Amino acid sequence: MTHDALLGTRYVQLARNTIDYWMRPGAPSLSEKALRRAIESAPVLPGASLRLYLHVPYCAQRCRFCAFSGGNSLSWRDAQRYATLLVQQLHAQWGATPVRGQPIRSVNIGGGSPDLLGESIDPVLEAVRALPGFSDATELGVELSLATARPAFIERLVAHGVTKVSFGLQSLDATVRAHMRQPKTLIHLERVLSWLDGRVPIVNADLITGLPGQDRAGVVADLEALMAEPRITAISSYLLTAGAAPALVAAIEDGSIPAVPPPLDQALMRLETYGAFRRAGWLRRGTNTYVDPSRVPPKALQRMAGDECIGAASYETFLVGVGPQAVSSMPGVRLENLVDVEAWTHAVERGSLPVHVSKCSTVHQRDMALWTFPLRWEGLTRRQWDAMREADALTYAQRRTFEALQHEGLITTSDEGFGLSLLGEVFMGHLVRDLKCDAGRSAVDAYIAEGEALGRAAARGTAPDANALNDRQRAREWLDG
Ligand SMILES: C[S@@+](CC[C@H](N)C(=O)[O-])C[C@H]1O[C@@H](n2cnc3c(N)ncnc32)[C@H](O)[C@@H]1O
Ligand code: SF4
Repeated sequence: MTHDALLGTRYVQLARNTIDYWMRPGAPSLSEKALRRAIESAPVLPGASLRLYLHVPYCAQRCRFCAFSGGNSLSWRDAQRYATLLVQQLHAQWGATPVRGQPIRSVNIGGGSPDLLGESIDPVLEAVRALPGFSDATELGVELSLATARPAFIERLVAHGVTKVSFGLQSLDATVRAHMRQPKTLIHLERVLSWLDGRVPIVNADLITGLPGQDRAGVVADLEALMAEPRITAISSYLLTAGAAPALVAAIEDGSIPAVPPPLDQALMRLETYGAFRRAGWLRRGTNTYVDPSRVPPKALQRMAGDECIGAASYETFLVGVGPQAVSSMPGVRLENLVDVEAWTHAVERGSLPVHVSKCSTVHQRDMALWTFPLRWEGLTRRQWDAMREADALTYAQRRTFEALQHEGLITTSDEGFGLSLLGEVFMGHLVRDLKCDAGRSAVDAYIAEGEALGRAAARGTAPDANALNDRQRAREWLDG
């Protein structure tokens, strides 16, 4: 295979990392006590904001591409108990941070399929709305799965003033959907849209590019069809992270589904996607999320925080993530909740921190605003840039890389700060990796390599089930054993 530079850039393929950016090398000597101390003493700096993420690890589907499948469980009949424990962890963790009581920018409840909580979503929504700092400026988002959501659940969301509902579609093409083990029919989409119609300001549909069996024409047709649907007000278009989905890698390796599209096609799919949003006047309001400003009231637009819940936007941000697999990120702390639902449940019941201690870290990533900026629709402000320089947070190599990316036309410059060109958006994952310091970059590379090795292990059949494999906290068991 030849490795030609794509679209005149330095890159020969699209980034393989899209959810792994915040990784730090594990710290075997860390203790729960040290983590608790780090949370309590995290500095509250100018520009601090508080964002909450609550994970619901229940799902009735087993989509092949799913990055979250390692934690997904089918024992959703314990919903009431789960909701109680989730709120318990939320109170404990939010209460331990020095920003408790300060304004909450956003609350997102994701999964899995939070709709499987059924009526048990009520105590969760009541608890978050009762937190001091929650106001009518706080974004309140809930994810659901089209096939399992019911009208009564949507009524509950409307009654609690939810401002954003998000669901996955990935592709409208029946063949691609079948490869991904998704329901072929789109009847669920029509039903859910009719229940939501005009009742929640932001209705967001997720798409993925780079899926096996996809072609450029199909990606463009899907996007155009969704943009033409007035009941959908926002669209997130993600780049497939195959390394986060061993089940998908295994199915490609054993020939049950086609390979992912070639690199140039993948790059053009991203270019055409972002180009279509820009041409139609949709606004970027998340890493990969665009919204049609003509379809949402200005207040709802203002409330959009642009969080896709996978990490903090900057060093100053407090992202408190609760539930199995959720990640927290605060100045000087990164926490990874236990992926295994049972283990997480026992830890919360015991009152211990339900995290995988050796995967957490207490490193102060003062350069975070630099490498997270490609992910932020707000870009990098001059104030953030100056603050990092004054704190001596950037290495010489990081500054040189930044200048080179400006020179190559991937980063744009204005009086207010820095942003991404269209090409910069296409290669945003690479930009994040390239702008990290050496230790951060090696952690990302190691994480990707591990994900791909898990995929190969799944293909060899050395693990009982490719979804169970997708628990990175147990990866060494599968790879070493
Ligand atoms: C985990 S789902 C939760 C929502 C809900 N269960 C659903 O699928 O409708 C959130 C979104 O993450 C995205 N996603 C999951 N795995 C991914 C992967 N390996 N690469 C890129 N995006 C992925 C999909 O677009 C999906 O809709
Ligand atoms: S993508 Fe959503 S519906 Fe599919 S398995 Fe993952 S959590 Fe479930």
